[in-house]
Amino acid sequence: MKVMLIMGNRPHFIKCAPLVKEISKEPDISLVLVHTGQHYDWEMSGTFLKEFGLTAVDYNCEVGSGTHGVQTGRMLEKLDPILLTEKPDVVLVPGDTNTTLAGALAAYKFHIPTGHIEAGMREYIWRPEEMNKLVADHCSDYLFCPIKRAADSLRAENIPDSRIYFTGDITYDMFLQSKEKVQAGSDGLDRLNLPPDFFLLTMHRAETVDHQNEVSEIVEALIEIDHSIVYPIHPRAKKFLMRFGLYSKLNRVRNIKLIDPVGYFDFINLLLKSKMVLTDSSGVLKEAFYALKPCVTLDYTTEYKEIFDLGYNILAGHKKDRILESVQEMSGKIFAPVVDNPFGDGTASKKIISILQQTNPKYPAT
Ligand code: UD1
Ligand code: UDP
Repeated sequence: MKVMLIMGNRPHFIKCAPLVKEISKEPDISLVLVHTGQHYDWEMSGTFLKEFGLTAVDYNCEVGSGTHGVQTGRMLEKLDPILLTEKPDVVLVPGDTNTTLAGALAAYKFHIPTGHIEAGMREYIWRPEEMNKLVADHCSDYLFCPIKRAADSLRAENIPDSRIYFTGDITYDMFLQSKEKVQAGSDGLDRLNLPPDFFLLTMHRAETVDHQNEVSEIVEALIEIDHSIVYPIHPRAKKFLMRFGLYSKLNRVRNIKLIDPVGYFDFINLLLKSKMVLTDSSGVLKEAFYALKPCVTLDYTTEYKEIFDLGYNILAGHKKDRILESVQEMSGKIFAPVVDNPFGDGTASKKIISILQQTNPKYPAT
């Protein structure tokens, strides 16, 4: 069986790594690795490919940045000839980004069996990612759900049960495998000269950083938090914070340490050492849960209601007072592992490969 994995951005590389590892153990599966080039800076792409051993990318479409339509259109144009040349038996796409949409749509149009990893997640609001994942799900023959509720959402959209699989969340596989490695290895963070007992911040979503009023309030809150904060800053956030004159403002605050984005293993190390996490990232808020760290989410909605219902995280939105109250509320909290983890048992990648082997998808006969 020939499997094509289509990836293109930071969270994708992290979600693909455990699958590539599983595939490498299976002599009956050959892998074609495609990078759309949505993320391209060393800190957003190269560093992950290197640390996960994904350097043997077969195709890089090098689409770069652009408006949604331009970026997605370029991907579709580049993916068509790759699909026609490689004739994969199945195409796999993770997540909810423009790369996810383009990968699933391109494969669907050629009637190639398609699998969506992280299927069925819905927020029922307007967001580019909401439509990306909805379309990817409806293009797919294999819907690999990270939590059980996702399967219910798919059934409510009339997707047949025969296509729906609960596998658990692939980021949990990656977290468990990496936690061991990070804890066993030497400390790569010495170079960062970290303050003790810091809070870890990530913030990059368009809904958060592209809007001056929203992000200004968050910055005001960060400045008032009486605690060291380490912020590996995503290039999108840096661009908008600079445009709004907020980057230099943050940089001048003694308790806030702005750093370049770090690789995954360093990030997990930062997370494990932190006292609390503040984030608008759906990936990072799950990792905070896996690491049993109190978390404050800088957003108004979430795909992962389970974590919030359990009390491990607070949806604080973008208003200063609410953020400060939420940080206060979460300070010093210590959490026990949950008995029935909604994200599964850390074997999503194994399950996905085994489902493919059992069902044996085929490139369509001409
Ligand atoms: C994308 C995803 C978002 C995901 C995030 C993960 C979509 C619609 N959005 O958002 O869901 O949470 O990735 O990080 O797919 N840039 C660089 N260097 C890079 C990449 C981007 O400087 O290597 C800058 C460019 O100015 C670019 C901007 O970041 O215009 C946004 O990049 P883009 O890939 O369009 O979206 P993200 O905000 O990264
Ligand atoms: N991450 C990383 N380095 C950083 C910040 C985040 O490796 O400096 C990882 C983090 O561990 C998580 C993923 O990036 O697995 C989340 O990606 P991002 O926040 O860009 O996107 P989202 O998950 O919100 O789509």
